[in-house]
Order: sequence, then C-alpha cells, then structure tokens
Amino acid sequence: MPTLLARSPITPAVTRAEGVRVRPVPRVIGVDVPVPVRDGGHVPYANLDYAASAPCLEAVHEAVTRALPYYSSVHRGAGYASRVTTGAYEEARETVRSFLGAWRRSAVVFTRNTTDAMNLLAHAVPAGTSVVVFETEHHAALLPWKRAVRLPAPATPADAICAADRALRECPIGPRLLVVTAASNVTGELWPIGELARVAHRHGARIAVDAAQLVPHRPLDMTALGLDYAAFSGHKLYAPFGAGVLAGRADWLRAAGPYLKGGGASASVGRTTRWAASAEQRHEAGSPNVLGVIALAAACDALSGAWEALAAREESLVRRLRSGLAALPSVRELTLWGDRAPRVGIVSFAVDDWNARDVALTLSEEYGIGVRDGKFCAHPFVGHLLGGDGADRSADRGAAVRASVGIGTSEEHVHRLLTALAELTER
Ligand code: ALA
Repeated sequence: MPTLLARSPITPAVTRAEGVRVRPVPRVIGVDVPVPVRDGGHVPYANLDYAASAPCLEAVHEAVTRALPYYSSVHRGAGYASRVTTGAYEEARETVRSFLGAWRRSAVVFTRNTTDAMNLLAHAVPAGTSVVVFETEHHAALLPWKRAVRLPAPATPADAICAADRALRECPIGPRLLVVTAASNVTGELWPIGELARVAHRHGARIAVDAAQLVPHRPLDMTALGLDYAAFSGHKLYAPFGAGVLAGRADWLRAAGPYLKGGGASASVGRTTRWAASAEQRHEAGSPNVLGVIALAAACDALSGAWEALAAREESLVRRLRSGLAALPSVRELTLWGDRAPRVGIVSFAVDDWNARDVALTLSEEYGIGVRDGKFCAHPFVGHLLGGDGADRSADRGAAVRASVGIGTSEEHVHRLLTALAELTER
C-alpha cells in the first residue's frame, strides 16, 4: 500500500481538524426542479420522499467534482493520483468514524448500502449466534439472519425494552445479537437504542442498529450509546453515489471469511490463501467505490455541526404536516407509539376509500408531489399498523402512503400536500 499523503488535496474545505462548529443547513441540488403535471403545465417538484432516497447535497457534488481529476486506483498504485485517491478514501473512513462517534479501534467497512452492511454482519456473526429482532424492522435488518427470534411490535418503548430483555435472557448460551432500528422508516418514531444497548449488554449480547433513517436527521454517538454496530446508506444521507457503511466491533468481522473473495481481501495467495487481517481489507474486496465513499464522507462533514438548525426546521415542518393530516377526517396517520412519541420527519398514512398507489399517483400527476406508497420494505410492520399480517401480496391492499421531509423541503411543499389531500378526499 503506498504511503498515504498526510492530507489529501481533495478533502472538503472544512475538516474534522477544525472541529465541529455550528454551520448553516447545507443545500441540496434539485430543489423545486420543474416537473410536468396532467394539465400540460409544469410545477416546482415537491419532493416529500426523502426517506427513500435523498437528493444530493451541493457539498457532496463539489467534493466528487474535486476528486474526479485525481480519480485513480485505491490501495494499488504508486502514482500521485493513486496516492491522492487512497488518501481521500482512508480519510473518508475517519470522517465516517467521527460522524458515528465510533470507537477508535472499531472497524468502519464501506458497503453498498444498509442492506449490504446488515448482510455483511449476518455473514460475520459466529456460528450459533442467537439473533433477536423486532418484526417492525425494515427488511434490511429483518431478513439477513439465518435464524432469528422475531419479537412482535411492542406497544410502547418500555415494552420494547422488556421484550428484548426477556428474549435475550431466554437465548441459549453463546453469542447473542439484538438488531433494532434507530428510527422507523415507516413511522419515523425513535427507538430507545441506548436503553436497548444496556439491556443487551446485561445479557452478554451485542446490539446492531439500523441507523439509515436516523443519521439524515439526528446525530448518532455509538460510543456514548454503547452501540456495538451501526449501519447506514449514503443515498439516504444526501450522497447518492452507491456507498454505505457498517461500523462496529472488529473481532467478529476479522474472524469471518471475506464477504467477497478476491483481490484486496487477500494478504497472500499461493496454493493456499491467507486473508487480510484487518476487517476493512478483508471485507472490501475488489476496487472499492471510491467516489461513493468520498461523497459519503462529504455528506457526514456537511451535516456535522448543522444538526441544531436542521432539527429546528424539521420539527416545524413535521408539526405542520402532522397537524394538517390529523385535521383531515379521512386520513389516518400510522403510528406505533402514539402522537407524542419522538420522531424524525417521516409520516405514513392511510386514506379512506383510496388505495395508496392511486393517492401517490394523483399527488404526482396533478400536484407535482413525490411521496412513496406501498409497504416500505417493512411488510410485517405495515401489516401490523394497518391491521393485517403484511403477507397480502396485492399492491393495493395493506399499503400506505409515506411523506418524508429533508433539507430541501419547504412549508409550501407541506401546504401543497395537505391541500391536495383535502381536495382528493372530497372527490
Ligand atoms: N428503505 C427505503 C424506504 O424506506 C427504500 O423507502
């Protein structure tokens, strides 16, 4: 591996070295881009689908543009561009580590997204690990495990803690892992991950947190909360270049065989192969997605320090959105823990006498509003919230509409959605 440059010439202007200072809300690309509507005209796009994929931050675009002239191989070349690119790649790892408040010696492995990160963890858990997961999880955290105890949707955060406590106590002797979301991709509700971490540790278990929907809205401090693993995706964090992260304890990752076998993951290859000892090298085989990683780190950098401003804006938008929805008699917000549960800017709802797909299409075609409809890759949870089991294969039944806000969302977007829903429910 070539010597890393002390400081890459392509890293963002503001770095960790300057400390996290209070910054204004960063800007996204594509706010109010014109989109066609059914009457033949165009309206500014009201993007209320941030929870699916968030638009690119200007700072991310700039970081990728700065990196492109030097784009070259990572960990493979002696040329200047290779060394610059390798430096930026490894510096990005440290930016992500600090963004997550991950312990200095923890692994930070770059993946494609949260699903990939959770599958990597599932691949690395020791044989015989008892996995406990709530059925309220996104499929990325629900499905990768060979065998898992699935806990039903808890009625309160306190019930979640009791259920995890009970399930972990009943696990057979051996490694144990509790998997839970930090913020639901369906209801936006925040899960008590700090308390769950304490419960897990009391039973000798580890905790893995799906942070995909939390980190675009709130800071996460893995060390302070005692989280063993956290995963998130760049495309939800305003860095849509195809990178994600699994951060956490290195031992299981170092002990597992490589997630992908190939160049980069091996230390030496002859008749037998010796795999790289570091968790990162072992599980990042092949040429990595360096631009995705640079983009991801630029997003982490741009968001750190802007949390206060972000939270204040978001809270006011979500208050307006939820009170507006509550005032519409035929709209029902989906919530697990009730109106007052703390949440991020994600709101799902059902509309009487309308199927979710028709609502979403009408909002798009007539009002230029983008929302998501369906079961949000959380079939059991949406089934539970709508009173079914989530197994209904019909796209029309057992589905809901989801509006989610982010950096480019304006009051006008929220107002337009509420006006549109009022109009269409009166038809
Ligand atoms: N996981 C993404 C969502 O909730 C795609 O929409």
